[in-house]
Amino acid sequence: MTQTPSPRRTHPLGKLAAAAATLLALASCGGGDGTNPLDNPSTVANPSGTTNGQKLSFAYFQRCVMPILRAQLPININGAMSVNSCASGGCHDNTTGTGGALRLVGSAADVNLATAAASADAVRQTDMYRNFYSSQGETLIGAPLASRLLNKPLVRTVLHGGGLVFADENDANAKIIRYWITRPMPAGQDEFSAAAANLFTPADVTTGVCNTD
Ligand code: HEM
Repeated sequence: MTQTPSPRRTHPLGKLAAAAATLLALASCGGGDGTNPLDNPSTVANPSGTTNGQKLSFAYFQRCVMPILRAQLPININGAMSVNSCASGGCHDNTTGTGGALRLVGSAADVNLATAAASADAVRQTDMYRNFYSSQGETLIGAPLASRLLNKPLVRTVLHGGGLVFADENDANAKIIRYWITRPMPAGQDEFSAAAANLFTPADVTTGVCNTD
């Protein structure tokens, strides 16, 4: 007569030892070297920005970049050519635009920076300042190759709902935007820094000609 083996009863201490071993194994998890697929991912690197919180120049934006964002430019969308402006309705207009986070008031008045009334707080209330702030937000300060404000209209490493606006990086408009992004105001100074005069020839933010690459 064959005996069916009775189910192995594990000694209570055996269960305890197994649970302890599992716990020990788990305790060694976390921030592993990535060899164990069950490990936590290694800590994500998040290096601090390279520009020490620097700001781009408001004066150069207003006089040299905003005219580009307002200009009627040839637009190539999948081979279909048209003429349009970045700030126009349906594109990046602040109210009727479909252009993502870049929001512009095309009719924004120029700010006369030479008057006493143009205090930083007062300028920050203007539509031109909103255009500056939104455009600066589409840049990685100091890094034009990583800036959407250039990469989108160049269709460089990204698609653009507005198509190809600048033929290539040698486009005169692209060069001005690149010049702005690569010359932030000195660390510790704000977007109204007098250092912006160096971005013009002669060195005057009101009368000087916009320098470019
Ligand atoms: C020099 C001119 C232009 C510049 C600098 C520019 C820049 C940009 C930027 C930076 C974005 C990404 C916004 C985000 O972060 O969400 C964007 C998106 C977009 N743009 Fe433009 N754009 C220009 C012209 C145009 C024009 C003329 C149109 C319309 C015909 C247009 C339509 C759009 C649309 C629909 C999007 C959202 C879809 C996407 O992310 O690609 N853009 N553009």
